[in-house]
Amino acid sequence: MDSFILDKVNTLPKNSRVLEVGFGSGDLLREIRKLRPDLELIGVDVSRYAVKSVQDPSIQCLCKPYEKLQIDSVDMIISVHGIDYVPYDIAYKKVRGDLKANGTLAAVLHYSHSRFMAELEWVLEGFKHAKESGDTSHIDFKKPEEIEAWIKICELVLHNSFSDTSKIFSLLDYFGMQPVTVEEIRVKDDHRPLGFGVYAKNLDKR
Ligand SMILES: C[S@@+](CC[C@H](N)C(=O)[O-])C[C@H]1O[C@@H](n2cnc3c(N)ncnc32)[C@H](O)[C@@H]1O
Repeated sequence: MDSFILDKVNTLPKNSRVLEVGFGSGDLLREIRKLRPDLELIGVDVSRYAVKSVQDPSIQCLCKPYEKLQIDSVDMIISVHGIDYVPYDIAYKKVRGDLKANGTLAAVLHYSHSRFMAELEWVLEGFKHAKESGDTSHIDFKKPEEIEAWIKICELVLHNSFSDTSKIFSLLDYFGMQPVTVEEIRVKDDHRPLGFGVYAKNLDKR
C-alpha cells in the first residue's frame, strides 16, 4: 500500500510540500523522509499518540481533525486509510482547497467488501449491542458517550468505503479532481482488494 504512495511522492519536484492526513504511526512519513530529505513534510492526525510516535523533528506533526486544519497550499496530499475517517463531502472539498493548482492527491481508500471492512461490521454490531442492551462485557469502552462515538466512526468509515472504481471516478469528478490512476490494491493471500489507490490532480487553475 505504502509503495503506491511512495512512487507518487518520488515524482515530486525538489522542496515540494507534502501533507499526510491520518498518519497514525508515522511510518510512511519516516519512509518518505529517508527517500526525499528535501521535501517539506507535514502530518495531521486527531490522535495524540500518533503525533508522539513520529519523533522526527524534520516532520511537522499537527494534532487536530483534518477538517479543522488551516494550512497554506501544498503540492501533494497523501493518505492511507486516513481520509476515510472524514465525511467525504467535507474531505474532498478541503483536499481541493488545500492543494496548489495542479497539486495531486495520492491516497489509499477502503474497499467496502475487504476483510477489514467485514471485521468493522462486526465491531459495529458489538457496539450497537452494547448500546441497546447495556451489556459492555465484550468491549473495552464502557461509557455511553464512548460507545456512541465508536458507532459514529464505524458507520462513517463503512459509508465512506467504495465498492468499485467507477464510484471513485464520480467522486473525483464531482469535486473537480482529474483522475490520473485509480487501481485496486491487493495483499497476498486475499482474493479481495484491500483498497483502492487513487492518484488525482487538482484541476483548479487559480
Ligand atoms: C486506520 S488508521 C490509518 C493510520 C495510517 N495511515 C496507517 O496506514 O497505518 C486512521 C488514522 O486516521 C486518524 N484520524 C481519524 N479521524 C481523523 C480526522 N478527522 N482527521 C485526521 N486524522 C484522523 C486516526 O487517528 C488514525 O491514526
